[in-house]
Amino acid sequence: MKQSKIRGMVFAGLVLAAALSQTGCKPTDLSKENIIPKPVSVVATGSSFDLTDQTDIYVQGESAELKQIGQYLADKLNPSTGLGIEVKTSTEVPGPGNIFLSISGDDSELGDEGYELTITDKLVSLVANKPAGLFNGIQTIRQVLPAKVELASVQNGPWKIATGVIRDYPAYGYRGSMLDVARHFFEVEDVKNLIDQLAYYKMNALHMHLSDDQGWRIEIKSWPNLTAHGGKTEVGGGEGGYYSQEQYADIVKYAQDRYITIVPEIDMPGHTNAALASYPELNCNGKAPELYTGTEVGFSSLCTNKEITYKFIDDVIRELAALTPGEYIHIGGDESLATKIEDYIPFINRVQDMVEAHGKKVLGWDEIALATLKPNTIVQYWDKAENAKKGIAQGAKVLMSPAKYAYLDMKYDSTSTYGLHWAAYIEVDRGYNWDPAALEPEIKKENIYGIEAPLWSETVSNRQEAEYLIFPRLLGYAEIGWTPVEQRNWDNYKVRLADHGERMKAQNINFYPSKLVPWDAQKQK
Ligand code: ACM
Repeated sequence: MKQSKIRGMVFAGLVLAAALSQTGCKPTDLSKENIIPKPVSVVATGSSFDLTDQTDIYVQGESAELKQIGQYLADKLNPSTGLGIEVKTSTEVPGPGNIFLSISGDDSELGDEGYELTITDKLVSLVANKPAGLFNGIQTIRQVLPAKVELASVQNGPWKIATGVIRDYPAYGYRGSMLDVARHFFEVEDVKNLIDQLAYYKMNALHMHLSDDQGWRIEIKSWPNLTAHGGKTEVGGGEGGYYSQEQYADIVKYAQDRYITIVPEIDMPGHTNAALASYPELNCNGKAPELYTGTEVGFSSLCTNKEITYKFIDDVIRELAALTPGEYIHIGGDESLATKIEDYIPFINRVQDMVEAHGKKVLGWDEIALATLKPNTIVQYWDKAENAKKGIAQGAKVLMSPAKYAYLDMKYDSTSTYGLHWAAYIEVDRGYNWDPAALEPEIKKENIYGIEAPLWSETVSNRQEAEYLIFPRLLGYAEIGWTPVEQRNWDNYKVRLADHGERMKAQNINFYPSKLVPWDAQKQK
């Protein structure tokens, strides 16, 4: 053949390859994959790996923990691919066509949660220092496969992954959300569902707001009326509910298996009507109020100068600490408008000692910085920057949940079906476009413990309604917590988010279809 003809064929081949890669049939450019949160570094090598019915997941050695991570990935891939991927163990790199998960403890840049994913046309190799890093890496493997991989029924392949190397690790150590199960109660299955979504976006904490004026949601064996009476109802007068300690332990274990820490909150001294209604002795006048099903705040307080109050709190913290493998217990402390400041400060000081005595550290809303903070206490900035700064001045770290940017219960705009708007309307771009380390000059990156997006549940009473507020904004908060700020950009993010619209649909998530996101452009791929 003449040289010119060969050149012509090569050229035609390249054009065809480019066309295929653009239609998404044969992904060859790893850097164009729609990963959320955006990885720290992606180097594409221009080829692709085929997931086939010969593919298995090999984990290094005989570690039960690694096998469990491998099984999590297999369980996510098998329903849609139908490839019958199995988890096997090996001390060596497996043969071509497989996925290999291994631990190598000597890559300090990756830390405890980072990973390196190397995809060649022969092998998908995931390496991390710690199992948590592998778990994060398998979320990336899921996301570099077509969105239909998230469907629950068998789909047609091919299942190709673009080749290259991803090195990835988080900007912040704590990346979480909060679910208010007090204003409306959410069943164990709903909580687990949220935990799986947090895991998919490499978040590692779920704060559970377990008590408030409207309900007490965690069984405390030494004070059974808290749930028997205090768990009976919710906002609007519905049925309420609570978690038995066994159910709660099941949630904690489910989260732990996904490298997510549950942070339990008992809000005090305010936001305590459900407890006060359950035990008259906790009230200064000795009389139990009625259960409350409205949405006002700031009217209730534990009686801070009765000893029985501290016996009660000590019992609650003891039982909760025994159920909590995580380091932190959240003591609330917000909006204690019915507690005098001269009572509030010694109360918070004393409760911090009690948490410490039960082997835990304290997290609290930003008002707790008015008290004298123990070393290791974390202040959750939701309202007043001055409080966060008072915390920093006392050596505390700050968990960033500024209501104006990070509250998942804020409406998207004036037409939103659910949500409140006392702090702001938070459209998807506003929720994404802020830097925790640039909101206030005195709150620097080194002062920040992490980021958390709370969902308060006054206006949402079931999973579907909650999802409308959580998604898609949660994905943006996950990216703020993980991706270096210099690499975050709304125009780039909104395209990746559109691809995740398909992924959310595949998982039956009722997300808000913001007009700011080009959902349809992705659908045609
Ligand atoms: C809060 O939103 N009251 C912490």
